[in-house]
Amino acid sequence: MNSNCKCHRREPVSVVRLRKSGALRAVSYMALLIGLLVISGGELLAASGVIRPGDPWLDNRGQRIQAHGGGITVWKGRYYWFGEDRSQSNNPDKRYVACYSSRDLVHWKFRGQVFVLSDPEHLGPHWVLERPKVYASSRTGRFVMYAHLDDVHYKVARVMIAVSDRIVGPYSYVKSFRPLDEESRDIGQFVDDDGSAYLIFESRPTKGFFIAQLTGDFMNLKKTCFIPAPLEGGALVHMGGLYYVVGSHMTGWRPNPNVYATAPALTGPWTEFKNLAPPEADNYDSQSTMLLKVAGSKTTTVIFMSDIWHSRELWDSRYLWMPLEISNGLMQLPQPQPWSLNVKTGDSLVRVEAK
Ligand code: GAL
Repeated sequence: MNSNCKCHRREPVSVVRLRKSGALRAVSYMALLIGLLVISGGELLAASGVIRPGDPWLDNRGQRIQAHGGGITVWKGRYYWFGEDRSQSNNPDKRYVACYSSRDLVHWKFRGQVFVLSDPEHLGPHWVLERPKVYASSRTGRFVMYAHLDDVHYKVARVMIAVSDRIVGPYSYVKSFRPLDEESRDIGQFVDDDGSAYLIFESRPTKGFFIAQLTGDFMNLKKTCFIPAPLEGGALVHMGGLYYVVGSHMTGWRPNPNVYATAPALTGPWTEFKNLAPPEADNYDSQSTMLLKVAGSKTTTVIFMSDIWHSRELWDSRYLWMPLEISNGLMQLPQPQPWSLNVKTGDSLVRVEAK
């Protein structure tokens, strides 16, 4: 450029103002940061603050989140997501639970494989540890992990407990048992508004599932309710004076229409079960794992958390999280779409995208 030339390209007023305020630099840094978060192969590291049901979900390292059949524990203003870590690099003789933390439920920081277990009860080849859930006790300062423990044929049907003094582990194995002396396979976690903690467990011989309250030290259970409906993937939420329980039918890794019922108290009486979505959609190929209530300053969003299982390559299983539509005792899982959430206000915004 000719340095003698006094004329210069006119910048739009808005840009000039931004430059004067020094904000342009900040905007450029942000653009650069967003650019850096775009991972090669077209996978987006949730940079936009958008949850994309069914898409690969990447952690802060750019690696796929391994938290299948998972649950969320809220502790000191942070969300901790625990679940089955099915990484291909894992030792096939061991079972792994991974933990991620987040303040916004969109961006997740890998906190490690917080529980690594060798066969604890002579369960044999292809033994099973599934659906881990962590309860935080402000009373004891301990963190107690429950998980489904089984052999390859799913005949052992027990829960196991592991504990840690830190939420991010490492967790140590304590014991396994049959809750209420019943067979227990899929488990779910629920913490009520008053802090009382519950385990939901499916019990095949009884043709139903139990809701059981954790004892004060979280190391045992007492019966709250038995619901005579053979459902698994059990999940609960307390909303607008009603309890909603959700579950899937028993078709293994294959999806089926998930259903829900309501009751004024956890002890019942429970209504008949209704479909959560049009039955032909098979719950949009997913299976329930948890209902997460985000109560903000303006409103409350209940997130349906579910797994899209890829049974031949479990590491590649995906997550379907969607805000539920709830009113007057009715609950509906809408067609999955990208959506965003503000955990402070509780607002969620579903973005209907053209196909
Ligand atoms: C599903 C269950 C999963 C896993 C699978 C094995 O029904 O929800 O957690 O146990 O069966 O087939």
